[in-house]
Amino acid sequence: MTGRLQDRVVLITGSGGDIAKATALTLAREGARIVGTDIDAALAEATTTAVRNAGGEAASIALDLSDDAGAQEFSRFALERYGRIDAIVNNAKAARAGSGSPPRPTPGASPSTAT
Ligand SMILES: NC(=O)c1ccc[n+]([C@@H]2O[C@H](COP(=O)([O-])OP(=O)(O)OC[C@H]3O[C@@H](n4cnc5c(N)ncnc54)[C@H](O)[C@@H]3O)[C@@H](O)[C@H]2O)c1
Repeated sequence: MTGRLQDRVVLITGSGGDIAKATALTLAREGARIVGTDIDAALAEATTTAVRNAGGEAASIALDLSDDAGAQEFSRFALERYGRIDAIVNNAKAARAGSGSPPRPTPGASPSTAT
């Protein structure tokens, strides 16, 4: 670890996906603070927990980014928590019709803000 991203705040959309989790862990190893969001609260939380277990700093919030309100809430969450946004990894993807892997809804999702 070089610490070249020390205290940089990196947003990751679709943070519950495997690629997103690997990205979060890699960036956190370099010192970045990870702020994730996913429509699936449990997946978002799993990535946050993985980063924390590896000694990094992360927070997440479950949101649907398919409308502007979700995106605005995501940036608001990051700014309230860390006061800055340095980069965003736009990883979220919605499954195409007929692909066999529809987006997973998250009823009653709540933010995870513990450090
Ligand atoms: N897997 C591949 O081989 C591959 C190849 C090329 C590009 N990519 C791109 O890499 C990215 C990640 O791919 P992956 O295979 O890890 O995907 P994935 O499906 O595992 O992860 C995507 C995440 O986005 C979340 N998501 C879906 N709709 C959302 C919404 N409306 N709001 C918030 N979150 C939402 C899903 O819950 C999921 O956790 C995608 O953008 C994909 O297009 C993937």
